Amino acid sequence: QDARIARIAAAIRAIPNFPKPGILFQDITTLLLDTRAFRDTIDLFVERYKDKDISVVAGIEARGFIFGPPVALAIGAKFVPLRKPNKLPGEVISEEYSLEYGKDKMEMHVGAVQAGERALVIDDLIATGGTLCAAISLLERVAVHVVECACVIELPELKGRERLGDKPLFVLVDAA
Ligand code: PRP
Ligand code: MG
Repeated sequence: QDARIARIAAAIRAIPNFPKPGILFQDITTLLLDTRAFRDTIDLFVERYKDKDISVVAGIEARGFIFGPPVALAIGAKFVPLRKPNKLPGEVISEEYSLEYGKDKMEMHVGAVQAGERALVIDDLIATGGTLCAAISLLERVAVHVVECACVIELPELKGRERLGDKPLFVLVDAA
């Protein structure tokens, strides 16, 4: 377990001053190049969620689309994309939120989930927590129970975990 976490942590590359001066960007594309670390990432999520009666994995565009679908397939849940504005062709509900750098909107197709379903929200990273909060709001507005949020990496100094309140958050790696 610890060996797997260490391998995942080592496979994530930190790039200074991207996309703006002063920001240390956590780049998960290098994790995807390490086939064992990528597999371990998915396996750790699957081991945690396979027996939790989850019917929906909601993945957040864009990087939540990398980690969400393999987990959804492995645990037998459907995958629902939470997208940037004006991307989904059907009727949507939308939620505005603020980012570490900028403002954005998140949309979900009406009818993708049913009231009473149990969801897992997956993204690559939690920084301020604004993105995950928007995802939780969208799902709760249609009476879906968000069991937990899961990310590969957390930036603890930005205190996103506190912003989630009592909503459980599971992360594999803390950014140093
Ligand atoms: C990044 C990251 C998370 C979010 C975390 O996404 O992938 O989704 O920021 O920030 P927060 O906790 O402060 O809300 P971003 O919107 O930059 O773009 P991408 O996933 O589409 O690359
Ligand atoms: Mg993102």
